Amino acid sequence: MYKLNLDIQAFLANDWQQAPKVFKGAFPDFEDPIAADELAGLACEEEVSSRVVVTKGNDWEVISGPFEDYDRFGETHWQLLVQAVNHWYPESQPLVEAFRFLPDWRFDDLMVSFATPQGGVGPHIDNYDVFIIQGEGQRRWTVGPKGNYQRRGGVTTSPLIEDFEPIIDVVLEKGDVLYIPPGFPHQGETLTLALSYSMGYRAPSQQELAGQIADQLMDEDKGHKRFIAVDGAASHGTVSLAEQQGIMQLIRDLCNDTDNVVKVLGKLLSQNRFDLDIQEDESIDADALVEALNEGAVLMRIGGLKVLKMEGDSQARLFVAGESVIIEGASEEELIEVSNSVNVNAELAQLPHWQGFFVQMLQKGYFYLGED
Ligand code: SIN
Ligand code: CO
Repeated sequence: MYKLNLDIQAFLANDWQQAPKVFKGAFPDFEDPIAADELAGLACEEEVSSRVVVTKGNDWEVISGPFEDYDRFGETHWQLLVQAVNHWYPESQPLVEAFRFLPDWRFDDLMVSFATPQGGVGPHIDNYDVFIIQGEGQRRWTVGPKGNYQRRGGVTTSPLIEDFEPIIDVVLEKGDVLYIPPGFPHQGETLTLALSYSMGYRAPSQQELAGQIADQLMDEDKGHKRFIAVDGAASHGTVSLAEQQGIMQLIRDLCNDTDNVVKVLGKLLSQNRFDLDIQEDESIDADALVEALNEGAVLMRIGGLKVLKMEGDSQARLFVAGESVIIEGASEEELIEVSNSVNVNAELAQLPHWQGFFVQMLQKGYFYLGED
């Protein structure tokens, strides 16, 4: 169990999305949820997103996984980064749970890094919030003020930026946490062989929202309303202000349509950026589910799956991995419980109106039957 020793109310009021902060000893008695060799093994898998970054003087080389072996990288100056470890390694879920004071829809993934001395990814800016949790070893972190930073070496496509003046300069040790909101430049430098954990959080961009609105309208063959002119044209070549406003009102209408908003956001926010470890089980049916639960099996979500309930939804519905699923007869309390629980209450799962949902989820490989 990972218990975060942090004043959550104060953090949310003063720091979250606002300012970087160091929490020394945030996890007293921290134990690494994964060993370096297990992480290295995960990065051998095709489906797992991984990279090695090699430090070369003032430059950094990125090599994408999967990897067969790491011998060629030597003893120092490199770092292995593995994304979405929580999708592939269920033992990392207890660490994720320690951060569930933030809503599931905001959570992106747990990235785990193994770094050798002098390894690091270089100075950069992320567009997501991150909590960096230090496991084994020591890493020195610098964080600079928000601002406009030049791309490294003037290369506009580089993910790296020029060096910055730090406002935080700290050595993280086992159990320490560094929180960095979007936009603050930062850089980690490895002092001793180190494992660290990055809990990343995102919110959708206008681009992603607009894309999802368009997908939703296409899926349902909706959105055919067009602008109707009320006044004559101002002059041949001009689009009047009233016309501009009138046309854009069509978009505002979509945003005011509650049912549309629920579906657009439910689908968008329940999707994952990284692959899930889906193991379909087409053979399962309601009898097999009930029998397994009666024999003590535990019905669980696969790692990283998002099961969201939209407040104010007029339908008894959950959004799962970008899909809308109606559960006829489910109460508001039941929907909230299922959206909150990684392990499903066995009694609830056997209620006649829920059996169909869970059978469907097991068949699709979003849930599985495991042991406690
Ligand atoms: C790292 O662990 O060095 C990368 C994490 C980050 O900068 O967000
Ligand atoms: Co970063």
